[in-house]
Amino acid sequence: MKIEVDRDRLSTEIAELASISEAEPPAVTRIVFTLADLEARAWFIRRCEKAGLAVRQDAIGNIFARWTGSEPNAPAVGTGSHIDAIPNAGKYDGVVGVLGGLEAIRALQRSGFRPKHSIELLVFTSEEPTRFGLGCLGSRMLSGTLSAEAARKLLDKEGASLEQVRRIAGYNAPLEEVKLPPGYYQAFAELHIEQGPLLEQQGIPLGIVTQIAAPASLRISVEGAGGHAGAVLMPDRRDALCAAAELILAVEDSARASGALDTVATVGICEVFPGAVNSIPSRVHLTVDIRDTSLERRDAVMRAIAGALQTIQTKRQVSVQEQLVNADAPAQCAPAIVEALRESCLKHELPNIPMVSRAYHDSLFMSRIAPVAMLFIPCRNGYSHRPDEYASPGDIGRGVLVLAETLATLAA
Ligand code: GLV
Ligand code: MN
Ligand code: MN
Repeated sequence: MKIEVDRDRLSTEIAELASISEAEPPAVTRIVFTLADLEARAWFIRRCEKAGLAVRQDAIGNIFARWTGSEPNAPAVGTGSHIDAIPNAGKYDGVVGVLGGLEAIRALQRSGFRPKHSIELLVFTSEEPTRFGLGCLGSRMLSGTLSAEAARKLLDKEGASLEQVRRIAGYNAPLEEVKLPPGYYQAFAELHIEQGPLLEQQGIPLGIVTQIAAPASLRISVEGAGGHAGAVLMPDRRDALCAAAELILAVEDSARASGALDTVATVGICEVFPGAVNSIPSRVHLTVDIRDTSLERRDAVMRAIAGALQTIQTKRQVSVQEQLVNADAPAQCAPAIVEALRESCLKHELPNIPMVSRAYHDSLFMSRIAPVAMLFIPCRNGYSHRPDEYASPGDIGRGVLVLAETLATLAA
């Protein structure tokens, strides 16, 4: 069996998908269930149908494109990622796993390989948390990590519920049907750009992920007292932004104090009300994102942040409310899939290293219902979530080759 990846077609497809965007090129923005997202889905489904795959979509909009195996009732082998993109993103995050997965299937078809287990390519809905504040909506629901009831309650910034928004997008089936039956997948493998600099720095073309870090996020609101920026004297102030500033630094300190490089914490959103030059901030909303490979350390940081909230609240006479959005466990990749990826690298003389994924991915949630592993390719300067994100056709091609071969091993 000789697997040949069509790099040119794949590059053209990546560029075409990037052109379906709400942002000016080279930036890509595709927020879940916006017109750009819906158009991108339709474009992708046409390409899958052209490849002879049977396409279905579930109630939350996860797309499944199936190459049916000779034993259609046997558990499937899954691959895929996401095509939604955060505001001002690049072309490759998620897309490499989706279009690379499609090219892996086409390359296997051309090689004459015929799978015994069906190979299923997935596009997960809303891996990015942009719209509903919670990432990996599709894979959380497939794996039963997020219940239909909890999903229905999610609201976007405009106050529209996920339930309303998905129905307007044309997804009307009951959300209860999204959860997959036990044993649906016998394995799941996701190809992704590294989103960090290590592969490029070491000149290594492939990273085999053995562990995915545990993410958590919080919403915090700080309520102080507003007023006139000229008239209210300093001793009389209860400035919500000054309290939030202390809190942001406490988040940073808590992560730094963990003693491990694997601990990271970020305040990525800070909304200030009323947001006027000459008005004391009365209210601030923050989001906190905390990650670690160790659940104990991650939870210790969360406790430290909770402690800092109390201290700052008392010290600054403000009221601080904390809402937990998610606190997920880390995932261990399945040794058998890791080994299959390694074997394929070895066969093609492709140097590789074991890696930790510090970003989360849909594989984190797929690991709750199936053995998973991930394959990383380098991206320039480690840049991701920005318009100059770039992965070379050569690196993508090598990733697709190893993915294709691994899918064949798993589906044989
Ligand atoms: C995924 O995009 C993440 O934030 O890790
Ligand atoms: Mn992303
Ligand atoms: Mn991604």
